[in-house]
This record gives sequence, structure tokens and C-alpha cells, in this order.
Amino acid sequence: MEFFKAHNLLLIVILTLTLSSITSVTNSMSSSNTPNKGAYWPSWAINFPPSAIDTTLFTHFYYAFLSPNNTTFKFEIDNPTAFLLKNFTTTLHTKNPNLKTLFSVGGASEGRQIFSNMAATHKSRKSFIFSTIEVARKFEFDGVDLDWEFPETPTDMKNFRRLIHEWRIAVQKESKSTGMPRILLSAATYYSPVLTLDDIYRKYPVASINRNLDWINAMCYDYRGSWDLSATGAPALLYDPNSNVSTSYGLQAWIKEKIHREKLVMGLPLYGRTWQLKDPVLYGIGAPAVDMGPGDEGTMSYLEVEKFNTQNSAQVVFDLSTVSTYSVAGTSWIGYDDVRSVGLKVAYARGQNLGGYFFWAVNGDQDWKISREASRTWTV
Ligand SMILES: *[C@@H]1O[C@H](CO)[C@@H](O)[C@H](O)[C@H]1NC(C)=O
Ligand SMILES: *[C@@H]1O[C@H](CO)[C@@H](O)[C@H](O)[C@H]1NC(C)=O
Ligand SMILES: *[C@@H]1O[C@H](CO)[C@@H](O)[C@H](O)[C@H]1NC(C)=O
Ligand SMILES: *[C@@H]1O[C@H](CO)[C@@H](O)[C@H](O)[C@H]1NC(C)=O
Repeated sequence: MEFFKAHNLLLIVILTLTLSSITSVTNSMSSSNTPNKGAYWPSWAINFPPSAIDTTLFTHFYYAFLSPNNTTFKFEIDNPTAFLLKNFTTTLHTKNPNLKTLFSVGGASEGRQIFSNMAATHKSRKSFIFSTIEVARKFEFDGVDLDWEFPETPTDMKNFRRLIHEWRIAVQKESKSTGMPRILLSAATYYSPVLTLDDIYRKYPVASINRNLDWINAMCYDYRGSWDLSATGAPALLYDPNSNVSTSYGLQAWIKEKIHREKLVMGLPLYGRTWQLKDPVLYGIGAPAVDMGPGDEGTMSYLEVEKFNTQNSAQVVFDLSTVSTYSVAGTSWIGYDDVRSVGLKVAYARGQNLGGYFFWAVNGDQDWKISREASRTWTV
């Protein structure tokens, strides 16, 4: 990590050598451990059907999202959704029979309340768990992904622990009685095990995660964005010498809490966040800004960033000290991950013997450039 604090060429050479020797060490070690290469498919991406997915680049795919009824905590699936679910699993399993499909429950726009209520009592947890199993079997999913953003109170965390404990027992029982492979259980989590949203201290139940979940998807992105328009920021940087809000800090914090490394999956954004510079001459990371930049509410998919760069002859800067990329054109500023930063982050995750990586969201890539680089960087 210290390497990144210096900028001279010699250290860059050492870094490159270190990364390639890490890669060759893990090459010989990882034969028993196939990396988890995941991506979320937003079911509202109408121009990007499951049939468009290059399934050779992934091992796990998540249908985003389903939410249960907010009082019964059972899924009520209407006909169009039933069609999409079936189409998703059938299409992906046909293209790549080894690919695991999961449906993801909740998501950022669902918020926390429904989960907080669902997890609060044994009865409501049981109702939810039973319904997830029913949906998984009916639509031939291999697993379920819990995207509770976030368990915000110490009580939420306690109930999260109860939920995953009871869920694991239920899917084991179901597998025993049906003879079918056990339903996989994963969860999308905060980038670090301690939620630092305010002064309340709460931490994910890591020991319980190790026992009960197959893996977690740590959402290592959205560190900076439109909620702070005063300065530009790298939204998913690997290293930040000035704060704990970085991917390396979050992943190391999970490791310090003794998560099993193979259960820790690193998140990668296929989108950037944008700012409008105060002065086009001052354009580094942390430069003064006055507003959101181009894109939808200050966000742009990688695909849109590439288009923007071409159309505006933007200057593209790869920042080695943070392992992130930004583009500048006039006063428009975009912080994002490109092929190079993703390659280095995946090499980092591999060097740390993590479980793998995942993308939010698959439709942001351009001609599979980033997905291919990530997969290539971690090919067994
Ligand atoms: C949730 O279920 C209850 C009880 O069946 C029902 O009355 C309610 O309409 C449902 N809520 C929604 C949003 O569908
Ligand atoms: C459930 O959802 C309905 C419709 O969106 C909303 O009016 C109601 O307040 C919610 N109930 C609970 C318990 O969250
Ligand atoms: C999935 O839906 C698409 C578009 O509606 C359709 O062309 C395709 O045949 C469907 N595939 C399966 C396996 O149902
Ligand atoms: C970063 O985290 C460490 C503990 O992991 C803590 O001691 C330190 O104060 C934190 N630094 C900042 C800037 O929050």
C-alpha cells in the first residue's frame, strides 16, 4: 500500500513486478478456488436483455431487484415480472450451464425500513425466508442475494444475524428434503464492516456471515458523489492516503474482522460520477467544484463516459496514487473506473486471495472491455 504514496518511476516498476508476482503466486494456488465473477442485471434495462450478456465472462448473475410485500413479507409476482424472471434464468442457463443465477432483494431505492420490519420478528423472518425459497425454485434460480441498504441500527444488525442464521437452516433443510442443490445465499453490504454513516456504532455480524452466507458483495463505490458538490472526488478509489473511505481500507477492515477471504467479493462500478469545476485550470481529484456535471443526476455509465470523452475530446487522466481515472473537458469532470483501474483493482483482490469481484451494473460496460479485462486478470 505504501507504494502508492510515491510517484516516482522506480516504485512504479517495483509495483508492477509485485503485482505480477502476486498474480503468479495465486495462479498456482487458486486452482481449487474458482473466482466469483459477478454482475447485476437491472430488470429495467429494456435495451439490454439477458440474451445480450456475454456469459463467458461471468460465473454469477444477479437479477435486480425483487421486493416482498411490506406487511406479509411474501413475494407477490405479477405476470410481466414472472416472464422476466423465467426469461433471465432460462436464457443465462442455456448460454452457460455453469453460470449461477440469483435474484437480489431490495436495492438502494428500496431503502431500509422494509428489511428492518421483516427481520424484527421470528414470524416475519420465517414468512420472508419461505417465500424466497418458493420464488427461487419456481423460477429456477440458484440463489438469493439480500440487498438491505443498510442495517442501520445495532438492533438491525442483531436481526440481520438472526435472519441469515434461520435462512441458512431453512435452505439446508429444503435441500435435504428435495434432494436439490442448496439455494445459495449472499448479501450486498456496505464497503466496510462498520457503518460510519453517523455517530452510532454498528458492525456486521462477521462470524455469522462466515457460517451462514456463501459470500458478501462489498459495495466498494459511491464514496463521493452529488451529495458533496464542493469538490471533485474519485467515487471508488482503491487507495486514499487522507481518509478511510477507500476500497483497500474497507476490504482490509473486513479481513481484520476475520471474514473468510474467499467470502469477500469486491464491488466495481460500471459508472462514474460527475462534477462541474469552479475553474477549468484546477482539475485534479479534490479540485473546487460548484455543481453536478453532465449525466443523469451527476452519474454516467462507463459507456456514456467513453462516448462523452470522444465527443468532447476530453483529457483522460489515470491517477496511480488512488488507482482511479477521471476525464476533464472544459468545466466538466467525471470520476470513474476504466480498463486500467479495474485491472489493477482486480489484481489487488486476487493478490489478497479474496473471493472475486462483481459489477454494478452489467449494462454500463462498453463492448465488454472492462468485464473482459477483469476476467482476464483473474483467469485460473
Ligand atoms: C400486502 O399484502 C396485504 C395483505 O395481503 C395487502 O392488503 C396489501 O395490499 C399488500 N400490499 C401491496 C403494496 O400490494
Ligand atoms: C407499504 O407500502 C404501502 C404502499 O407503498 C405504503 O402506503 C405503506 O405505508 C407501507 N406500509 C409499511 C408498513 O411500510
Ligand atoms: C426471452 O425474451 C426475449 C425477448 O422477449 C425472447 O426473444 C426470448 O426468446 C426469450 N427467451 C426465453 C428463453 O424465454
Ligand atoms: C481510520 O481507521 C482507523 C482504525 O481502523 C482509525 O484509528 C483512524 O482514526 C481512522 N482515520 C480516520 C481519518 O477516520
